[in-house]
Amino acid sequence: MTQPLVEVKQLSKHYSLKGKMLRALEGISFAIASGETLGLVGESGCGKSTTGRCLLRLENPTAGQITYQGKDLAVMTPQEIRAFRQQAQMIFQDPYASLNPRMTAGEIIAEPLRIHQLVPDQDISKEVSRLLDLVGLSQSSMMRFPHEFSGGQRQRIGIARALAMRPRFIVCDEPISALDVSVQAQIINLLKQLQRELQLSYLLIAHDLAMVKYISDRVAVMYLGHLVEVAPADELYHSPLHPYTQALLSAIPIPDPEVERSRHRIILKGEIPSPLTPLQGCPFASRCPLAKEQCHHVRPLMKEIKPGHTAACHLL
Ligand SMILES: Nc1ncnc2c1ncn2[C@@H]1O[C@H](COP(=O)(O)OP(=O)(O)O)[C@@H](O)[C@H]1O
Ligand SMILES: [Mg+2]
Repeated sequence: MTQPLVEVKQLSKHYSLKGKMLRALEGISFAIASGETLGLVGESGCGKSTTGRCLLRLENPTAGQITYQGKDLAVMTPQEIRAFRQQAQMIFQDPYASLNPRMTAGEIIAEPLRIHQLVPDQDISKEVSRLLDLVGLSQSSMMRFPHEFSGGQRQRIGIARALAMRPRFIVCDEPISALDVSVQAQIINLLKQLQRELQLSYLLIAHDLAMVKYISDRVAVMYLGHLVEVAPADELYHSPLHPYTQALLSAIPIPDPEVERSRHRIILKGEIPSPLTPLQGCPFASRCPLAKEQCHHVRPLMKEIKPGHTAACHLL
């Protein structure tokens, strides 16, 4: 990778909760190249949204470093912060909750244009209509209110609003989980098409591994605030190395009934430990079907097992 667009080094985020320390993120590192999509997957509560919020500077990390175009987010000048706020955007899981119900779609999309003075006032409605077009909404949408749209259409409004800022990097936080299955592929295809047209980079957060595969160049797997494996998407799906990734993948049904019959499903025992409990050793040890004595005591580090394919597991 030449200079990555976004780079995260040893990022940790701890919250204090009822006098205890909650370790939401523990020393995660990854990079996203210009024009690349990195998928970030893992079960609910493993730290995906916290990662996204730290990347967008919506939250301050407890430790570690995040750079954007080689600049450390923690020491940016006010001018650099303004540029970053424009170039790095977020698309949310529930577009309904993030759209003002009293504003028309046209006003919602125009708002960032006006606040950030991205186009002269007299050109705003022309720009809104260009953005509606870009996300596949009709021009008549401009005058309608959020409740008049379907879930998929509302997500398109959320995307248009993010695009109004002319971003280079977008954190998509579970952008399709709240949508009907039939609409999910349309939104994924839209994100993919926009990426090609506008040279966007994405951090695509999802708990569903199946969808991420179609759009991600690489996929990072998280468990309990830790990264456990990062690999090119195809390789991760065909030859997962970490026992946790293997279990996650084994839970995805295979469309071919012949192959599906022979699918070996790995059922994990127990629950994800609480992030409030201090952790020794491998975060996955308590549920890992292959764990050895060492796994309970020594934290495995991420290491490159094959070119571009890293995992944190003592068994590799
Ligand atoms: N503001 C907060 N205060 C305290 N704990 C939080 C806060 N935000 C997230 N957490 C906790 O951090 C962990 C990771 O949360 P989150 O990043 O939302 O996970 P995910 O997006 O993967 O579901 C969870 O245990 C969650 O309860
Ligand atoms: Mg989340």
